Amino acid sequence: MDKIIVTGGAGFIGSHTVVELHEAGFIPVIVDDFSNSDRKVLDGLEAIMGTRPACYDVDCNDYAAFDEVFRKEGPVKGAIHFAAFKAVGESVQKPIQYFRNNLNSLVTLMDLMVKHGAPDLVFSSSCTVYGQPERLPVNERSPILPAQSPYGSTKQLCEEIIKQTTSVGQPLKAISLRYFNPIGAHPSANIGELPLGTPNNLIPFITQSAAGLRPPILVFGNDYNTPDGTCVRDYIHVVDLAKAHVKALQLLDRVEGKTHYDVFNVGTGRGNTVLEVIKAFEAATGVKLEYKIGPRRAGDVEKIYAEVDKSRDGLGWKAELSLEQGLGDAWRWQQKLLQKA
Ligand code: UD1
Repeated sequence: MDKIIVTGGAGFIGSHTVVELHEAGFIPVIVDDFSNSDRKVLDGLEAIMGTRPACYDVDCNDYAAFDEVFRKEGPVKGAIHFAAFKAVGESVQKPIQYFRNNLNSLVTLMDLMVKHGAPDLVFSSSCTVYGQPERLPVNERSPILPAQSPYGSTKQLCEEIIKQTTSVGQPLKAISLRYFNPIGAHPSANIGELPLGTPNNLIPFITQSAAGLRPPILVFGNDYNTPDGTCVRDYIHVVDLAKAHVKALQLLDRVEGKTHYDVFNVGTGRGNTVLEVIKAFEAATGVKLEYKIGPRRAGDVEKIYAEVDKSRDGLGWKAELSLEQGLGDAWRWQQKLLQKA
């Protein structure tokens, strides 16, 4: 059974990926500094997996401590790198912290992977690298447009660092997964999204508003060139997204040679407007939402959704779960949080 380091494994996408790795016969080892996650996630993981995953309270920028994890856990087959700062707005306020944390943690991880002979790397990237694409659906050959924020810039730069490092023949095999908009929670409601403070993202805002914890939803603009004037996104269930990481590791294992790099979109291939999401939430849960139309949010692209041919053919992966399932699972998770509070 191959051991996989999962940086940020206590986070939203990381924790769901730990579950899927375990189910696929890998041994996940979490490395997380808990700066934006909660230790209770480990209880949720244990409830689902029937065993408590190994977990190190380590910042990936701390070379010595991270080195010790590789030494203790070795041999390690690879790593999935989720650990990063991810708030777009905050990145505009704190660009240097974003560049230092997001770039340095990747470089430290790659250094240790080469040092310890752990060749397979999966990197958490984002469809934000495409900006507003000229043609939709957007595919992996579409140009990388100038980043709209330091956060987006870190994703572009990290992809470039991996590409350059592998292109000069370093013994690393890597895949960047460009996520569209992750939503949902594990169907058991034992793990899910835990945003700190007021959520920036649509779905946690919807579930908290539905629970009475937040005011009515503010829809950011209804004068876009879309069917109902609100922005279009590709909402992908986090369990489907987690499974794409397993497929990426399995693909890297099959790849011949010592060095390799590729990129895949991870979305459903469908675009939905904000108002469609609100209606789908009401249909999936029976809970009525209140919303108001507000001004556009700076930095939002009008519409984006994925072309998924390459991930279907190359990774052997496609999304299985619907928008309604994602919204229903997110709501069950929110209700469970309320019961615990
Ligand atoms: C955002 C980031 C993206 C990042 C992703 C991580 C921006 C511009 N992009 O994606 O780079 O990878 O988060 O999760 O921030 N909306 C409302 N009201 C709300 C919240 C959102 O109308 O209260 C709308 C937004 O305008 C957007 C859609 O809902 O059209 C989705 O927004 P959000 O969940 O924040 O994701 P993105 O902005 O697509």
